[in-house]
Amino acid sequence: MTTSLSTRVWRNVRLSPCADPAHVIDNAALAVREGRIAWFGPAGTLPPEFANAESHDLGGRWVTPGLVDCHTHLVHGGQRADEFALRLAGASYEEIARRGGGIVSTVRATRAADEDTLFTQAARRLEDLLAEGVTAIEIKSGYGLDLATERKMLRVARRLGQAYPVTVKTTFLGAHALPPEYAGRADEYIALVTDEMLPALAAEGLVDAVDVFCENIGFSLAQSERVFAAASRAGLPVKVHAEQLSNLGGTQLAARYRALSADHLEYLDEAGVAAMKAAGTVAVLLPGAFYFIRETKLPPLDLLRRFDVPIALATDANPGTSPTTSLLLMLNMAATLFRMTVAETLAGVTRHGARALGLADSHGEIAVGRPADFVAWSVDTLAELVYRFGGNPCHCVVRHGEIVRTAEKENA
Ligand code: NIG
Ligand code: FE
Repeated sequence: MTTSLSTRVWRNVRLSPCADPAHVIDNAALAVREGRIAWFGPAGTLPPEFANAESHDLGGRWVTPGLVDCHTHLVHGGQRADEFALRLAGASYEEIARRGGGIVSTVRATRAADEDTLFTQAARRLEDLLAEGVTAIEIKSGYGLDLATERKMLRVARRLGQAYPVTVKTTFLGAHALPPEYAGRADEYIALVTDEMLPALAAEGLVDAVDVFCENIGFSLAQSERVFAAASRAGLPVKVHAEQLSNLGGTQLAARYRALSADHLEYLDEAGVAAMKAAGTVAVLLPGAFYFIRETKLPPLDLLRRFDVPIALATDANPGTSPTTSLLLMLNMAATLFRMTVAETLAGVTRHGARALGLADSHGEIAVGRPADFVAWSVDTLAELVYRFGGNPCHCVVRHGEIVRTAEKENA
């Protein structure tokens, strides 16, 4: 991690401190000291103490907070293009899972890969995300389903956070699928997750949160609850993959454990939305998975709005349901598929994404005293970030006050 001890001023900026199109400063300056935001405001009011600081001219570009991708399965072995081909021939995601393909085929590939191979493959995917201005990311385990492989995945996630200019939050998803060696013994597998895997991995400092796939092809409510209870005993926050394929009630259960987020949510009902509101749980919507499995049931946007539940967006980068490494593409998909507004989509990949990771106090917003993580974009309006799909208008990325990436081709 590089921390600048110098003071720098960024001038000629169109600043959107909260990524909110309704709150912008047209001709702004931004001062950074020791890697943190020291001041921002209209350029003409820059305090004299910054007058002689090293200065960068951003040429009138838009600046937003660094983006947050709050739900990924970035570390995994192999890919599932052949399964995609089967689905094109008519098989459903659930059928493939029941036939021993799906998640379990990625488990085989992840178990077989050594740690350095997993690191190299995940690093390539991470580089794509960073090139689009991501400065904080969540990475889940869940393709190991045994202690050694879950540990290997989480170690790779931690190493990525050390090797790259990005804040990594790890999530232990031991209860992602039933490993083949536990076929017919799901309760025994959950005991392994709660009594052995979670305590060991938490003691090694590898776990920031705990997630469960609560679904007919995943784990039941009772099994999910055992995992949440174990997370609470370990002092760890929970998240949940819920209401993705059916309405099982996983969201309400997770809300009882004050979940940081409930994710997917296409089949969520009003009681679930109300429970999220009461618990302060963020709704993480995943348009890439919705699109790729050709889901037709839309997540309950109007209910989430009515109850004022914060909505985040993420890539869900994974080989089975969302083989993408573009968070910008998710903005466009959320707008076109879910009819989310520009303001909603931008909040979804900044402050609401940060909240879904327990990073609400440090990420997702440009504010005095926070780490200076921001992105300059070569666009005419903020809406252009949502409007385009494909292409990357990122001009440069600043993390902890240092330029960590500049566009390869000048997108003036
Ligand atoms: O977020 N829903 C469960 N887990 C992943 C898919 C995992 C896979 O198919 O490999 C998801 O969609
Ligand atoms: Fe997921």
